[in-house]
Amino acid sequence: MVRDIVIYPDKRLKQISKEVVVFDEKLHSLLDDMYETMIAKNGVGLASIQIGVALRVFIINVPVDDEFSDRTVQPKENTLEFINPIFIEKNGLTKFQEGCLSVPSVYEDVDRFEYVKVSYQDRFGVKHIIEDDEFLSIAMQHENDHLDGKLFIEKLSFMKRKKFEKEWKKRNL
Ligand code: CO
Repeated sequence: MVRDIVIYPDKRLKQISKEVVVFDEKLHSLLDDMYETMIAKNGVGLASIQIGVALRVFIINVPVDDEFSDRTVQPKENTLEFINPIFIEKNGLTKFQEGCLSVPSVYEDVDRFEYVKVSYQDRFGVKHIIEDDEFLSIAMQHENDHLDGKLFIEKLSFMKRKKFEKEWKKRNL
């Protein structure tokens, strides 16, 4: 089921999400709804707080080239489901232009670590470790910030943030 996305400056986006302790049917349907919602909104990642559920859960699905067309696709089986993620290594610095389904149509350069190593649990509670130094690395950092109530626009310089707030207000009048 496609759920409504929580849009900035909704205060729910500032919540610190809670650790998942039960890996049941309810968690699985939350994850399935998150995938449907992310696809419906053309996203590549989504944290559960973005649909109003304050749990340490996010998903990422990096688009891949479709073999039958010149478009990209995001098959469900490619979805990475992160439950209770913990960053165990961060290295190097990079800049990446990011966007967020909770701040639609805004794209800004953000400073990030280049390499990250993350431990997490899957929907059955099984532990995994993943590392990356490309797009997935950036996506994991962006989504993990949501679990701590942080948005990418908070990483902008003072002037850029001011400009954003002014334009955001104007647009949402
Ligand atoms: Co986001």
